[in-house]
Amino acid sequence: MRVLSKTERHRVRFVLNGEPVEGYAEPRLLLTDFLRHEIGATGTHVGCEHGICGACTIRVDGKAVRACLLLAVQAEGRRIDTVEGLAGRDGRLSSLQAAFHRNFALQCGYCTPGFLMSLSEYLERNPAPTEADIRLALSGNLCRCTGYAEIVAAALEAAREMATKPAG
Ligand code: FES
Ligand code: FES
Repeated sequence: MRVLSKTERHRVRFVLNGEPVEGYAEPRLLLTDFLRHEIGATGTHVGCEHGICGACTIRVDGKAVRACLLLAVQAEGRRIDTVEGLAGRDGRLSSLQAAFHRNFALQCGYCTPGFLMSLSEYLERNPAPTEADIRLALSGNLCRCTGYAEIVAAALEAAREMATKPAG
């Protein structure tokens, strides 16, 4: 296998969960692979790699996007947030994570980072969602285990809690 030298790869620098990070990426490397293999941030999961399942959802400059549809080089200079950044530095779960925990909103957990990141953005935009709002907002995130009811319940519970205690 031919290993690309640093001069054949591009330097990529961005702010990941509030901390500057830097690495090298060949031009066609996906952001999911860069995060997981170059940076070691394995919380972002890879499912379909085609923009369908939502497992790889992260936030780029605040907007929820699918990391499997972005190249690593497109992250240059951006603010990237992943599931690793949701909990506080002391390990305390965010309101959203805690609601998932309380409501048993995961089984295998493979889809969970994507759901959490989609919801973290959506609940900022719509802090008082209805159940129908949540179901529509999550229509691009697939879960093979839960049947979605617990995820929706957790999202509604988190929204109610965040309305009285912002920042979660
Ligand atoms: S892995 Fe990105 S949407 Fe499925
Ligand atoms: S908890 Fe297993 S895919 Fe969602």
